[in-house]
Amino acid sequence: MFDEQLKDMEKTLLTREQITQRISELGAQLTEEYRDKNPLMVCTLRGAVLFFADLIRQIDAPLELDFISASSYGAGTDSSGVVRINKDLSTNIKGRHVVIVEDIIDTGLTLTNLLALLRTRQPASIKICALLSKPSRRKVDLVGDYIGFEIPDEFAVGFGLDYDERYRNLDSIYTLNPSVYGK
Ligand code: IMP
Ligand code: MG
Repeated sequence: MFDEQLKDMEKTLLTREQITQRISELGAQLTEEYRDKNPLMVCTLRGAVLFFADLIRQIDAPLELDFISASSYGAGTDSSGVVRINKDLSTNIKGRHVVIVEDIIDTGLTLTNLLALLRTRQPASIKICALLSKPSRRKVDLVGDYIGFEIPDEFAVGFGLDYDERYRNLDSIYTLNPSVYGK
């Protein structure tokens, strides 16, 4: 069905089954931690949308949702290190327990800047839950509190992650053929 996009893939990094399994584990952890805290689950647009939708359904506790869009990436595969808030939260987070849900932590610059901004609003706590992390690419000291998978330094697409806004609809996570970068 997605042959048109799959021809651009180099290899499968994570299958839908692996992703589903790991998300249920993360959901169980978050349920335990946030049972009595009515957390505000914040989805970072757009890459985390698929992960977020699956994750919140695995959390067996009262919670609320909000969305934020911050970007440090243009059309390429390398961070510019500049962060811009394209869409801010609608919720007042003062005194709230906040969980930022991200697709991937790469250099860590986007989240570091986002955290600094959100902390000025005095939440009770802020934690980070990311589906993927590339520890070897880190430019700042940022670990993340809940991580789905650590992956090597390869550009990943699918399950919400894009290259130049494409491939977000793929159900598994793949590495992209380097030849596609040149297009
Ligand atoms: P950071 O500021 O370098 O940590 O970049 C974080 C953002 O870069 C993520 O939210 C993604 O949108 C994007 N990004 C980083 N690595 C990848 C990748 O391998 N595939 C797709 N997007 C990526
Ligand atoms: Mg992106």
